[in-house]
Amino acid sequence: MDNRADDLEKKIDKRKTRKKRSEDQSAVESVFDMETRKTIYELYNRKILEEIEFVISTGKEANVYYAIGPEDEDLAVKIYRIKTAEPRFMWPYIIGDPRFKKIRHKTRDLIFAWAEKEYKNLNRAKSANVRVPTPIAVRKNILVMEFIGTDGNPAPLLKDCELSNPQKTFNTLLEYVKLLFQKARLIHADLSEFNVLFMDEPVIIDISQGVILDHPHAREFLIRDLKNLLRFFSNYEIEIPNLQQAYSYVTGWDIDES
Ligand SMILES: Nc1ncnc2c1ncn2[C@@H]1O[C@H](COP(=O)(O)OP(=O)(O)OP(=O)(O)O)[C@@H](O)[C@H]1O
Ligand SMILES: [Mg+2]
Repeated sequence: MDNRADDLEKKIDKRKTRKKRSEDQSAVESVFDMETRKTIYELYNRKILEEIEFVISTGKEANVYYAIGPEDEDLAVKIYRIKTAEPRFMWPYIIGDPRFKKIRHKTRDLIFAWAEKEYKNLNRAKSANVRVPTPIAVRKNILVMEFIGTDGNPAPLLKDCELSNPQKTFNTLLEYVKLLFQKARLIHADLSEFNVLFMDEPVIIDISQGVILDHPHAREFLIRDLKNLLRFFSNYEIEIPNLQQAYSYVTGWDIDES
């Protein structure tokens, strides 16, 4: 068999295994409200999505699905619920952000702004060389991004990993916090072992609540992120800085003077 036929065969096999694992597509889609369904069809028509296969995670504000794209590529699709349980918690992360000055005080608009914020933050992080899922598209409450995992299996969360080189992983993550701060001018604001996937290297996810540096709570959020990182890695016998040192490394400022 020549290479192309071989490739085609592999593609078909991949699809068959996926089909076996996935639920009936209409069953997956029937859990969405009308407006979300319309948006999904728009994404199908614009050739961004081919099929939504199955749910990977059901969170408080959003569900994440494994999907495939028109080129048979793996995708992750994060769908924020329009009727989310707790939209109010989102406001403190949106206020003071000049990118979202004009949004109206309606839950629906807030959710759309929230999805867009995650998309923009992912782009900024990626431009600063921080490893995050590459954002592909955002439309209303739906964010399409690179899938981190293999053959439909999402990569494990940092909290569930046996790290072979924890020192290297810690150093990389601290470097990412620094790049986010210095280059992307962003603070993740929910960084922990629950929002880092591990596939050969750490991949930071879930950055919708990320804030820009002149946000009124930026400093507080950064300190919280750093504390989480230091706490998690203190379980390993590796060299880690204290909070003051980590803060200075990331910001270039003294923790008391900033
Ligand atoms: N790009 C991706 N590739 C693979 N899996 C992903 C991707 N993004 C998210 N996931 C999976 O979905 C889960 C939830 O994603 P995320 O943390 O972004 O959403 P969330 O709404 O904050 O969920 P939670 O409330 O559980 O934190 C992740 O823990 C991860 O397992
Ligand atoms: Mg999360």
